Amino acid sequence: MTALVSTRAELQPFLDGFANGRRGVVMTMGALHEGHLELLKQARHDCDLVVATIFVNPLQFGPNEDFDRYPRTLDDDLKLCAEAGVDVAFAPSVDEVYPGGRPIVQVTPGPMGEVLEGAFRPGFFTGVLTVVAKLLNLTRPDAAFFGQKDAQQLALVRRMALDLNLPVEIVGVPTVRDADGLAKSSRNRYLGPEERTVALSLSRALFAGRDAAGQGAEAVRTAAGAVLDAAAAADGLTVDYLALVDPEDFSEAAPAFTGDAVLAVAARVGGTRLIDNLPLTVPAAPHNPGVR
Ligand code: PAF
Repeated sequence: MTALVSTRAELQPFLDGFANGRRGVVMTMGALHEGHLELLKQARHDCDLVVATIFVNPLQFGPNEDFDRYPRTLDDDLKLCAEAGVDVAFAPSVDEVYPGGRPIVQVTPGPMGEVLEGAFRPGFFTGVLTVVAKLLNLTRPDAAFFGQKDAQQLALVRRMALDLNLPVEIVGVPTVRDADGLAKSSRNRYLGPEERTVALSLSRALFAGRDAAGQGAEAVRTAAGAVLDAAAAADGLTVDYLALVDPEDFSEAAPAFTGDAVLAVAARVGGTRLIDNLPLTVPAAPHNPGVR
């Protein structure tokens, strides 16, 4: 049975009850799916107390984005929390999280937050980091679990914890995919059946890129780009970006890059914007013409 609380005061006794145990938090905006379930399972496995936060954060949505229509499914979310063994669901109001109204002091992400998602969604990562910092303060966990599906967000949260000396372990959890490759996302609910088929181009492009990793960074970009170009021409997919980046700072991988990288994509299918990424390794091998 998962307890539902909406204020810091209501949450406090649960935190006090596990003062000497390991406390874990999974932050969500609700509309929970199997990707969230994986985060919750990992938290349940690692921690004595598991708190799931459910909060659609207005600060991370741009003026023309989907804040109003973002799916709000609290009853279903609570069922899923109960299945995953979550102890407490913390679903605060906007006033509880932002008691002073729109915060004057916010957490800025720096250069890593200005590329890729940050370039297409100005202010997005400031909104994310600010609410993550607030929710960490409200829930005071030993560990916080984030999905690798949002790889840039995960890297920025890790960097925030390091740069601001936050006493929390940030745990990354692998992306969960449907059998055909589509990454689980709350926004998949917006897709009609035909749009869902078009959306498969994102993961197909990533897999094609990964398959070409033995030939170097340029080959990765070319192979993934070819899948996206075909989908753009045939199915009206609109690509925002395709990038092969260093997972530490999200800087673009140079042609001679070798080592661990992240291949990231964002594209729009109809009115729905989707992101996906895949970790891969570009080997320093004879087949890699980028390496001399
Ligand atoms: O990944 C999300 O769902 C959100 O960005 C988060 C981390 C819950 C902050 O609102």
